[in-house]
Amino acid sequence: MKKLDISIVLDVFDSVKELPQPIEQLMQAATAARERAYAPYSSFKVGTALVLENGVVVEGNNQENAAYPSGLCAERVAAFYAGATYPGVAIKNIAITVRSLNHTVTVPTPPCGSCRQALAEYEVNQKSPLVVYFMGETGQVVKANSVKDLLPLIFDSSFLK
Ligand code: THU
Repeated sequence: MKKLDISIVLDVFDSVKELPQPIEQLMQAATAARERAYAPYSSFKVGTALVLENGVVVEGNNQENAAYPSGLCAERVAAFYAGATYPGVAIKNIAITVRSLNHTVTVPTPPCGSCRQALAEYEVNQKSPLVVYFMGETGQVVKANSVKDLLPLIFDSSFLK
């Protein structure tokens, strides 16, 4: 038996003001999208904006449903729209922000496991890193240089071959 030691390094910015300007703008787009979220059941609004290699910015937000599991997270709303509209065009960066109607979220809030898996599918296919920036409503912004950093031991199509 031997140990497998998996470690990741994330970049932490003190605030959006510390981000490179194009990423600050992307986070602003995510923030605008967040406010349009349809989240009457959780009161937890999530907004995202991703930029494609062709420069197009796609926004998304969580879309909830009275039949709870029928709703969808912001990240997958945006990623699936991008995949449906611009097939084969790489996603360079995705910015994610959340706001709770019940308390102020100051902790950077990462994408859920299902969204990591969905984003990983695109990253694997495009063969270039999909960089993920996430934050709460205010405060620090975390940068993951690859979806793989957020989802070690990824399951991808290579296992199906
Ligand atoms: N949510 C997202 O939109 N993205 C995530 O990565 C985590 C959770 C949404 C789903 C649901 O509408 C609400 O946040 C509370 O879980």
